Amino acid sequence: MFALNFNKIIMPIFYGKAALAEFLNSVKTQNSTIGFVPTMGALHQGHLSLMQQSLAENNNTVVSIFVNPTQFNNAEDLEKYPRTLEEDTQKIFQLNANIIVYAPTVDDIYEGKVISQNFDFDGLENQMEGKFRPGHFNGVGTIVKRLFEIVSPNNAYFGKKDFQQLQIVKKMVLKNHLNVNIIGCEIHREANGLAMSSRNERLSASEKEQAAIIYQTLLQAKEKFKAQDCKSVKQWVKDVFDTNTNFDLEYFEIADEETLIPCDEKTKDKNYRAFIAVFVNNIRLIDTISLK
Ligand code: PAF
Repeated sequence: MFALNFNKIIMPIFYGKAALAEFLNSVKTQNSTIGFVPTMGALHQGHLSLMQQSLAENNNTVVSIFVNPTQFNNAEDLEKYPRTLEEDTQKIFQLNANIIVYAPTVDDIYEGKVISQNFDFDGLENQMEGKFRPGHFNGVGTIVKRLFEIVSPNNAYFGKKDFQQLQIVKKMVLKNHLNVNIIGCEIHREANGLAMSSRNERLSASEKEQAAIIYQTLLQAKEKFKAQDCKSVKQWVKDVFDTNTNFDLEYFEIADEETLIPCDEKTKDKNYRAFIAVFVNNIRLIDTISLK
């Protein structure tokens, strides 16, 4: 199928890469740019803000919606990941009917071989998410590289909530000499501070309210980091979650923003960032904050 018809307004939607490439070739001019927002769907305000930035900075904007199997290290998480293509395309249409949607099948992307490429991200992949989600970043690298090959964007937009992913994508682009600018965009939050995420859809109203503790703890950790060393701040966060039985802290880490190497001794020339992953009723939430 090629186009969705919303009240006689046509929005381009592609399920296959060949038709997408043909369409992009037809709209491309010598100086025009393509902005690209890769997503796994279940779109929220955070995604829409990435699209708005792309629309403001490019002639054409492509949004991909694809739940990528190779980046899930947990079969249940993959199975339960929300798939809401119809609502997603409605939201995109309401934002801007000129956005080009690419919603491929697994076969269109992986051509029968659903496996990851192995990447060397100079150690970025071994910290935090990498420790707890083996193979996750090879899956992310594989899909992002594949999508870049298909869409050939000039600019690609990623949220800073997945800050480690953002650094890894930048590294992948650098190492593979890909001609695309990677733009990191600010985190969008619910009114109570909870970072917007497609996984929030699986939280009950009361879990959502309680999950405000994640960002509140990050803000307090940032305050404490001004006067305390890394070890004490980390211990303080651990204690906060140890006394709260509704949450299961997977990790809290303070690391150098560039290398993602955990902070041992604070040094003045480094920019530090705090990273957290917490389970609420088996739903895994992550968040991050700059400690500058
Ligand atoms: O951040 C995400 O939603 C995914 O990891 C991405 C970048 C779309 C790749 O599947």
